[in-house]
Amino acid sequence: MAKIVLGMWTTHGPTLGTTAAQWPNRVAADKKNIHPFRLKDYSFDQLVELRKDENLGAQCTLEERQRRKARCDAGIKVMADKWEEMKPDVCVIMGNDQREMMLTDLTPALTVFCGDTIWNEPVPEDKVKLMPPGIHEASWSHNPESYTEYPGLRELAERITRMGIKSNFDLGVSYEIPRNPAHYSNGIGHAFGFVYRRIMRDKVVPNVPLVANTFYPPNQPDARRLYNFGELVGETIDAWDNDLRVAIIGSGGMTHFCIDEEFDNMFFDAFKNKDAKTLTGIDDGWFQSGTSELKNWIHAAGCLFNSGLKGSPTVVDYIPCYRSEAGTGTANGFVYWT
Ligand SMILES: [Fe+2]
Repeated sequence: MAKIVLGMWTTHGPTLGTTAAQWPNRVAADKKNIHPFRLKDYSFDQLVELRKDENLGAQCTLEERQRRKARCDAGIKVMADKWEEMKPDVCVIMGNDQREMMLTDLTPALTVFCGDTIWNEPVPEDKVKLMPPGIHEASWSHNPESYTEYPGLRELAERITRMGIKSNFDLGVSYEIPRNPAHYSNGIGHAFGFVYRRIMRDKVVPNVPLVANTFYPPNQPDARRLYNFGELVGETIDAWDNDLRVAIIGSGGMTHFCIDEEFDNMFFDAFKNKDAKTLTGIDDGWFQSGTSELKNWIHAAGCLFNSGLKGSPTVVDYIPCYRSEAGTGTANGFVYWT
């Protein structure tokens, strides 16, 4: 029978692909945006006032950003080395799409990519100007240097789909990564591209992307739904009659674009205790904006908590990467389990 030999949870955002000096390039956008934080919405200035006792200014000086960026690089290295050491044959990746493959014309709640080929490519020169500030600099971290095709894993993807439909999950399927000529972002989304580039170091094994719409209301699947689907993915792998060594990766999060260390730490505690009840009981209001991507972690947890992996996951590092005194930035986290 196929066997899960490795679980991973990783963040994947632009702080990991830009220098510490580049992080504040996003602050202009932070100042224009409204930020969900602890079930309420705030402007940048309101957050500065609300969080003034947290000493966030001292946590986003250039020196401190450089220290934290070095820890991020070290964390990714540990993850990629672990991947290399474990040599999984195939992989299932729980991620989300951020208006990359799926635009406003069609956004399914949950899609199984069933195709044989997954393509990605750099952002075309003429589309770079369409990108939000501070994002293009990070695109090497998830886009390859030239048009590249990676192997899908149709057999497992279709098994998961059939099992899902039988168990009342109404799934979307895709056999072809769409090309959206007007959009700057093409190919598989960054949640998956980051794993191919930075964790697998471009040696991509056949894989099933599971694409949840964590970001965009009104059809975001909730935490319990994704946890339960993760369980079904695990059952499908258990019943798959071959000797393949399988990895499961949750890609996304942690809290951003307003960092909340207490909320993030709840995940590490829950992982230590395989505490599904806490993870699936979190109100959906907490999972808005970038923080919604932590649902990809819950999705993977549904599969991994029941996988037979022994002990508990290893937290490699947790690095809140602040870029402003409002607490904006991205909290990065790296966890593996063998
Ligand atoms: Fe993301």
